[in-house]
Amino acid sequence: YCYKRKGHAVMIDYSQLISEMTLEEKLAQMTQLWGENPDGTPLMGIEHGFHKDAFLSAHAGSLLGLAGAKNAIEAQRNHLEGRQNKIPLLFMADVIHGFKTIFPSVLGLAATWSPELIKETARTAAKEAAVSGVHVTFSPMADLVRDARWGRVIESTGEDPYLNSLYASAYVRGYQGDDISAPYRIASCVKHFAGYGAAEGGRDYNTTEISDYQLYNSYLPSFQAALLSGCKLVMPGFNALNGIPCTVNRKLLQDILRKEWEFDGTVITDCTAVHELLTHGVADSRKDAARQCVQSGVDIEMVSTCLYENGRQLLEEGLLTMAEIDTAVEHILRLKDELGLFDKPYKDISIEAEKELHLCEAHRLLAREAAVRSFVLLKNEGNTLPLLPEEKTALIGPYADSTMLLDIWLCRGSREDCTSIYDSMKDRRDIVCAEGCKLHMTGINTGGISDDEAAMEAAVAAASGCDKVVLALGEHPAMSAEAGSRAYLTLPEDQMKLLKRIYGLGKPVAVLLFSGRPLELTEIASCCDSLLQVWFPGTEGGAAIADVLTGAAAPSGKLTMSFPRSVGQLPLSYDHLPTGRPRQEAAAPQRFATGYIDSPNTPLYPFGYGLTYTTFVCSGVTLSKRAMRAEETIQASVQVRNTGQNAGTETVQLYLRDMAGTYSRPVRMLKDYRRVTLLPGEEALVTFVLDRKQLEYYIPSRGTVLEPGEFRVYIGSDSTAQNGQSFTLL
Ligand code: NOJ
Repeated sequence: YCYKRKGHAVMIDYSQLISEMTLEEKLAQMTQLWGENPDGTPLMGIEHGFHKDAFLSAHAGSLLGLAGAKNAIEAQRNHLEGRQNKIPLLFMADVIHGFKTIFPSVLGLAATWSPELIKETARTAAKEAAVSGVHVTFSPMADLVRDARWGRVIESTGEDPYLNSLYASAYVRGYQGDDISAPYRIASCVKHFAGYGAAEGGRDYNTTEISDYQLYNSYLPSFQAALLSGCKLVMPGFNALNGIPCTVNRKLLQDILRKEWEFDGTVITDCTAVHELLTHGVADSRKDAARQCVQSGVDIEMVSTCLYENGRQLLEEGLLTMAEIDTAVEHILRLKDELGLFDKPYKDISIEAEKELHLCEAHRLLAREAAVRSFVLLKNEGNTLPLLPEEKTALIGPYADSTMLLDIWLCRGSREDCTSIYDSMKDRRDIVCAEGCKLHMTGINTGGISDDEAAMEAAVAAASGCDKVVLALGEHPAMSAEAGSRAYLTLPEDQMKLLKRIYGLGKPVAVLLFSGRPLELTEIASCCDSLLQVWFPGTEGGAAIADVLTGAAAPSGKLTMSFPRSVGQLPLSYDHLPTGRPRQEAAAPQRFATGYIDSPNTPLYPFGYGLTYTTFVCSGVTLSKRAMRAEETIQASVQVRNTGQNAGTETVQLYLRDMAGTYSRPVRMLKDYRRVTLLPGEEALVTFVLDRKQLEYYIPSRGTVLEPGEFRVYIGSDSTAQNGQSFTLL
């Protein structure tokens, strides 16, 4: 082929290459097959559930989930052997929050409010994945989420469009760098385009109805941010958006993605999503499903084989054109080319590098730091935490001595690589440990919940002999992530029983809460003195928890998803619209104001909330002017002071409200924030600069607008800050 050099990458003449491919080769390029058998052995030329075609097995353009240097080398060698066109095989996998060294769950990482840290975790994950053969990760998940019933909130960065955008961009930059052909870089696939997180009732895969106003202002910005950062692939969601499944939603895939945003990368469906067009009820045959997806702009069909089976007939009947197929194939070839695979089909794969890099000291240290920074201190009455050196502590609960510290997106991570909290603590403090009850699933697959009275009594006895109790409670990891929706957001009953028994002893109790989502904590919070949200903290979670319990490190995380008082409040987000009848929460409940007659509207713990081992006070807001013109900027400042006894980090947050617009505008919108670390008594001036970008919003059929009028700025330590000033946009 006619190779042309451009920068580092070898540029191939796609049209020449495509013109030499047979139709079946093209259709196979456009098909992604499972890469591994359930036992981890590679699937090559082997029949499996979704097809029985030897040609497809040998020619499929990409594999899902195959990783490990040995398998990847073998698969690539088999693929290229005897092949004329030398089109390399592409390996894609779900590297969600780490490959072998596992970082905290994404919702926990988001609580760090640190895109730089997220970028570093992504860079590290890319390195570990690349040496094991992975070329593309199905990350970031840029879905905005407001409903904790949806299990996949664990994979998202939360409910805020601005933070989600910063994070989506950080993930892409972390995986890809500037050049995906460079060593240890992999391509990023942003998902699930779009609105998947708005699943009705919080049920995974469910329908979503989102107005253009909501779509453009809340759901799309994070996707656009990923693409502006160079993201190479997009995955449409499983969901139907406003009646049309995303897989064939032309408004999304053509009008917005390809035309408005000029995306010329690769679109890959979600797993078997083309076949699912039949069950969605928008295609009457696999052939029609294949036609629709190609015409909507899909390049790769994941796992189902509708296109491969029907492509030839669709062309012969004139229902698809060769040009449509060639466009898709060109997108795929370009991706392989940009990864440098035509030049180096084995790229970074190396058995030696796997040994050297996987779980190496530096990666473990990063995982520990990320975990520490992901923890959110929700309550700390009487400074129950940190534990004092002279205190004897009982460590109790199903997570007390467990290595189950990873959520179910564990990629090549393993429980065997984790150290339990007890093992991480026992040499650092005088500690006794008891389980109290077992960790189990609630709901389906309960596997029988047994009330173990003996274990409970042993736990009570252990607690009775100690000064303080740390209770490590939580959801089973399998209760969140994909298909992990829940109708009840409570802890398993026996854990609640354990908590109440222990709290009844009258000792100070600190609860460590493991979960992949905001749980309903009203009752739990009333049965403890201290409450620390630790998510699923990853490979180094045990050591990180020990750091925070002993005070070697202080928690500094802030929630990026509101924690409800009850499941009945969902969906819930801080940036809701005011309505014509807002409720004054401070006043007596008013009947004819929006709200419930049996609950406040406000969350138990709001977006942006999180305590630490010291306290901060924020001065009133000073604005640099009272009015600004569109081309000007305005500065908003506060003095922040550490009023406690320890050094600490505060995340100072700036929210904006547009008091009157053509559309009703949210009561609060996060526009900026700053993390400041202060010694006891130390003070810092924090200044934010606002410009028109932060004041604009999207109006359907008009585009981005800037509307003059009053804006109110709030600055404080969470989304409920009352500390405000107004200015006018002239
Ligand atoms: C289904 C999930 O929805 C998606 O997020 C994931 O990337 C694919 N399966 C591939 O595993």
